[in-house]
Amino acid sequence: MTQLYIGLMSGTSMDSIDCALVNFVDSHFELIATHSIAYPESIRQQLQTLSTPGSDEINRLGQLDRQVGYLFAQASIQLLDLTGHTPKEICAIGSHGQNVRHQPNLEHPFTLQIGDPNAIAQLTGITTVADFRRRDIVNGGQGAPLTPAFHHFAFRSQTRDRVIVNIGGISNLTYLPANEPNVTLGFDCGPGNTLLDQWVYQCLGKAFDEQGNWAHQGEVLPSLLDKLLQDPFFHKKPPKSTGLEYFNLNWVTSYLGETNVKPQNLQATLAELTAAGIVNAINQVASRSAEIYLCGGGVRNIDLVARIKRRRGDTQIETTSTLGLDPQWVEATAFAWLAKQTLEGLPGNLPSVTGAKKACILGGVYLG
Ligand SMILES: Nc1ncnc2c1ncn2[C@@H]1O[C@H](COP(=O)(O)OP(=O)(O)O)[C@@H](O)[C@H]1O
Ligand SMILES: [Mg+2]
Repeated sequence: MTQLYIGLMSGTSMDSIDCALVNFVDSHFELIATHSIAYPESIRQQLQTLSTPGSDEINRLGQLDRQVGYLFAQASIQLLDLTGHTPKEICAIGSHGQNVRHQPNLEHPFTLQIGDPNAIAQLTGITTVADFRRRDIVNGGQGAPLTPAFHHFAFRSQTRDRVIVNIGGISNLTYLPANEPNVTLGFDCGPGNTLLDQWVYQCLGKAFDEQGNWAHQGEVLPSLLDKLLQDPFFHKKPPKSTGLEYFNLNWVTSYLGETNVKPQNLQATLAELTAAGIVNAINQVASRSAEIYLCGGGVRNIDLVARIKRRRGDTQIETTSTLGLDPQWVEATAFAWLAKQTLEGLPGNLPSVTGAKKACILGGVYLG
């Protein structure tokens, strides 16, 4: 039986709303079509502002929730127009929403992703599943990462241990041991592109460091790198997840103090830190023989990928393209799959990853 689902994702980088049309046939899947729309600059800025504490948050949140919901709906409608599919043919949309706050470690933990699913269901006419993370948090989990269950479905091998590393704003990994299908591990490694994006934006006004060229020409500052790597997050045992609330330029400044450094050398140091956070996390869970596959926008940062290969001492590291899924579309495809899990009454979280007391059916369903 073939079943069409749409996955909608916009990560912490806030670079674009990614929309994937996925066909599930029995236990296989095929990415049929994709579409991306960029946030209008003013909305992107408002979302970034809302991601840190400020005044009048409820009003700003309410209005952005609606605007983001409309944009998510628009992205889905455009994808259908491009492909000639009708809403009736789509089983459901899985919408991650836009994260504006992730606080899984407070006394009263919470996480909040916006993009009103009422608007998505109403404007597209398609049943929408959203708010995937909070049920896991109620069950004592981090609410993140949620993609490992999809990685297990899509990428597990029965003969080779595999590690999937997603380099979005934050980086996270999934360890898929060949012999123990029930021992999937996964956690946030630390920063992905976010520190690089934030620093190049502050210094050069660019949204990201194209191919990592700017970092590539800088020099790593070893003593600063050592200090940054001592940050407790890197040494915390999983389950663990993080966000831009933690890894931001204030975090860098808290280690840098008043020291004057050449901006480009700081970028090189942050790139090396990002690579080290990822490789240390890989080394924690996987033996030398494990296959490593990268995904997320960070795979386009050639400098960062080279640093990861160098640190791991593995030139064979590839992207998920090798496994049949374009690295740009893994996350959106995962949310299509998570919507399918929910509608079929199946769990979407992995307690071994999030730390939840039990596996549970994720999200709220908004009928089309
Ligand atoms: N050509 C490129 N060169 C360097 N970095 C890139 C390039 N294209 C994308 N990126 C990085 O990828 C990020 C987006 O990755 P993505 O996986 O969409 O993250 P998120 O899930 O947080 O939205 C951008 O913010 C940027 O840092
Ligand atoms: Mg993105």
